[in-house]
Amino acid sequence: MHNTVKIAIIGYGNVGRGVVKALKRNPDMELVCILSRSPARVKNEPGVTVPVFAEDNLNELKKADVAILCSGSKDDLPVQGPFYAKHINTIDSYDNHSNALPYFKAMDEVAGKAGTVSCVSIGWDPGTFSLQRVLSNALIPGSKIYGFHGIGPDGGISMGHSDAIRRIAGVQDARQYTHAIPGAIESVRSGENPELKSGDMHWRECFVVVKEGADTGAIEREIKNMSGYFAPYKTVVHFVSQEELDAKYSGFHHDGLVIGSGTTGEGNLALIEYRNIWDSNPEATANIMVAHARAAKRLANENRRGAFTIFDIPPAYLSLHSREELISKFL
Ligand SMILES: NC(=O)c1ccc[n+]([C@@H]2O[C@H](COP(=O)([O-])OP(=O)(O)OC[C@H]3O[C@@H](n4cnc5c(N)ncnc54)[C@H](OP(=O)(O)O)[C@@H]3O)[C@@H](O)[C@H]2O)c1
Repeated sequence: MHNTVKIAIIGYGNVGRGVVKALKRNPDMELVCILSRSPARVKNEPGVTVPVFAEDNLNELKKADVAILCSGSKDDLPVQGPFYAKHINTIDSYDNHSNALPYFKAMDEVAGKAGTVSCVSIGWDPGTFSLQRVLSNALIPGSKIYGFHGIGPDGGISMGHSDAIRRIAGVQDARQYTHAIPGAIESVRSGENPELKSGDMHWRECFVVVKEGADTGAIEREIKNMSGYFAPYKTVVHFVSQEELDAKYSGFHHDGLVIGSGTTGEGNLALIEYRNIWDSNPEATANIMVAHARAAKRLANENRRGAFTIFDIPPAYLSLHSREELISKFL
């Protein structure tokens, strides 16, 4: 007999669709509603079988135990996160690593005052990969921690970099694939502990559709010189038609590795490797968020309040299994 966790989804795009599917795989979860800035659009989406309301319908929202925020990190969550944390326990996948601490503090202040629980930056990176970095660092003191994304032959799609290209004047559509450099992975796996800069670990491949009459040379230069996004990397740009982009490059595959490398004792090699393969990056993110919704309800039931990162939440709180089952089956 499970204690049902009632869920509201806020914001309905790729991750929101993933949450609907993830909830169906968790027998203790019940989706009660979706809130969106474009409810008419969401009501017509296939697979939506629950009531859809405008984003400010707090009366309906409060029928849920936990709201899973599926809006964009760049512009939506900094506003929506603190707004909803005043009213309900929340989960979000805020993914701007460099702004994660100010975002956490803003959420902690609001949720602490409101008496709610907000689990922030819950996805795979940031998220489960962050947890592996902490574990590697704690278990192998002095270790170096490396992260690789796009290990397979086709690399992995980066939503943020694709979005950055789409904002260039003259670009109609774009997808960006990140490729890890195999020699760098091998060097790390061998325990050499190399000094690697960003451009030594990854290269970037862009598939770009331009508007009629656009200057492809100028667009290519702008992509390659974009600081933070492309400038430190070898970047290859392919100009393709919309049909080719839609036919060949429409999936959401992504994968990655976290490797902690160091020594124990007097210099014995110690290596921890954690690999994820996701055919659907948004569905993977959604699965991780849904497990944390269970934890948020448990924390709230203990009268905990404020913001929590993935570091602060006991793994047993994520699981549908009882403590006894966990110990007998998983320990
Ligand atoms: N931490 C991690 O590991 C991780 C991994 C993947 C993604 N993420 C985060 O997840 C966020 C959401 O990703 P996503 O792929 O779901 O973004 P998305 O598809 O662009 O959706 C973002 C929001 O845009 C609105 N929207 C979506 N489609 C629309 C349309 N056709 N017309 C009008 N509005 C539309 C929706 O809000 P409304 O319903 O309110 O209109 C939706 O919540 C990303 O920004 C990223 O930060 C994190």
